[in-house]
Amino acid sequence: MTIQRTLSIIKPDAVAKNVIGQIISRFESNGLKIIEGQLLQLSRSQAEDFYKEHIGKPFFEKLLDFMTSGKVFIQVLEGEDAIEKNRALMGATNPQLAEKGTIRADFAETIDANAVHGSDSPESALREIEWFLSNKG
Ligand code: CMP
Repeated sequence: MTIQRTLSIIKPDAVAKNVIGQIISRFESNGLKIIEGQLLQLSRSQAEDFYKEHIGKPFFEKLLDFMTSGKVFIQVLEGEDAIEKNRALMGATNPQLAEKGTIRADFAETIDANAVHGSDSPESALREIEWFLSNKG
């Protein structure tokens, strides 16, 4: 059993739909605990820094526009195999391909506005959690 931490972002589309609580409830009922969390309005430079691995990709500017279009709820989740568990709960990046019952299948419609982000590896979890801790208010 490996207790891990991962970073999760509830994106502006899900915040606007008023489903923060429903999404958090899925984490909690699957054994993931919120150990830090904050509602934040990201600046463009914060969004660019957070997503810097995607600089140069065709969707990058659209991603920045979207992630700064409203508040996001950022949280650190802790629990057994938290990184993989969170990814399984989220479902595929493209909600059209996400399995039934996953967060993206239930709360999102498009690959750009896909409700949640989650760290994809132990390395990105470390980097993203550090990023959050130094960017939260
Ligand atoms: P996220 O997990 O937040 O990481 C980067 C985001 O870019 C991704 O979710 C999607 O919302 C968005 N995105 C848009 N187009 C693509 C694409 N073709 N491949 C991956 N991510 C994309």
